[in-house]
Amino acid sequence: MQKVQLGNSDLHVTKVCLGTMTWGEQNTEAQAHSQLDYAYERGINFIDTAEMYPVMARAETQGSTERYIGTWLKKTGLRDKVVIATKAAGPNASVTWIRGGRARNFDAANLKAAVDTSLQRLQIEHIDLYQLHWPSRNVPIFGNNVFHPKQERDCVAIEETLAALGDLVKAGKIGAIGVSNESCWGVNEFIKQSEMKDLPRIATIQNLYNLTARHYETSLLDETCYRENVSLLAYSPLAFGQLTGKYHDDPKAHGRLTVFPPTWSPRYLRPATVAATARYVQLARDNGLTPTQLALAWCYSRWFVASTIIGATSLEQLKHNIDAYDIVLPLDVIKQVDQIHAEITNPGQ
Ligand SMILES: NC(=O)c1ccc[n+]([C@@H]2O[C@H](COP(=O)([O-])OP(=O)(O)OC[C@H]3O[C@@H](n4cnc5c(N)ncnc54)[C@H](OP(=O)(O)O)[C@@H]3O)[C@@H](O)[C@H]2O)c1
Repeated sequence: MQKVQLGNSDLHVTKVCLGTMTWGEQNTEAQAHSQLDYAYERGINFIDTAEMYPVMARAETQGSTERYIGTWLKKTGLRDKVVIATKAAGPNASVTWIRGGRARNFDAANLKAAVDTSLQRLQIEHIDLYQLHWPSRNVPIFGNNVFHPKQERDCVAIEETLAALGDLVKAGKIGAIGVSNESCWGVNEFIKQSEMKDLPRIATIQNLYNLTARHYETSLLDETCYRENVSLLAYSPLAFGQLTGKYHDDPKAHGRLTVFPPTWSPRYLRPATVAATARYVQLARDNGLTPTQLALAWCYSRWFVASTIIGATSLEQLKHNIDAYDIVLPLDVIKQVDQIHAEITNPGQ
């Protein structure tokens, strides 16, 4: 599988990244190890996780995902063959079990604590790509699209966070750094501060991107990240499974969108998302593709997507999703995708 360089870092990763956030909740340790074995056999060298995983986030399970990856790395001895990306959780008043859910999660003390515990769980000495899971400051994320100054909150300045990350780089605990769920302003501010203060430069941005959520293109992030050499790691390419068409065929189909309460992921259940999905499902089937193949092949081939982070709860799903990497979508299909997007724009954002 083709590899790409992440920003100006020395990391070279496959165009498909293995997501892990179901491990410890929907998947057992043995299943996680089977997925890792299989993805590695298929040539994937890039694994994305987070200190907060698995999802839905719960105090009782938190950290299991990193622990499962740690036991696999130890068992297989493949540490040096894979690129490990993890993330520090941002402030979230309802996730009190991660450093108290504090507003200042990205200061030096909290980031050091986060890195040290991730290293322990992963049983490694160095994290290749360390990401900030969501911003410290007020930014609309996770289905909330409206910025308002009234929601401003106590936060850690980007400059302070970069200095803390710089110390962790110097200590050899982390390598490249990245942001996630970031805005155009945030990316520019990270770059500006790193250049002004000679601090580490972000190599990646991990943001939502799929057929129903193309905000990355319409929010000026595509141009910013291109010009500043920040690589996009696209997450949730199947809109939490909605774009597989299984809920279109049977709204009660077993999967993340029916297993967990609808309040957890309302954006993928909005009427407009369901309507857009129906159009993409039809387009796929009219062209001899599964809806999953259409959604993933489209994501894999976008010029600004460095690596697509896929997720699966079974080996069968994982195989189908990796196989889709070899599909080349006809130009006519891509034009029809854009037509649907123009008619129903970003319903899942
Ligand atoms: N930075 C962030 O804030 C953030 C947010 C979300 C995700 N991520 C990262 O991105 C990774 C992928 O995200 P995601 O899991 O949301 O991706 P996704 O592609 O939108 O959804 C994956 C889910 O869809 C279902 N699925 C996948 N392939 C299928 C197939 N072939 N047929 C039927 N169902 C299928 C599975 O769930 P069911 O079997 O339960 O239906 C699977 O867990 C995560 O593991 C994580 O590493 C990051």
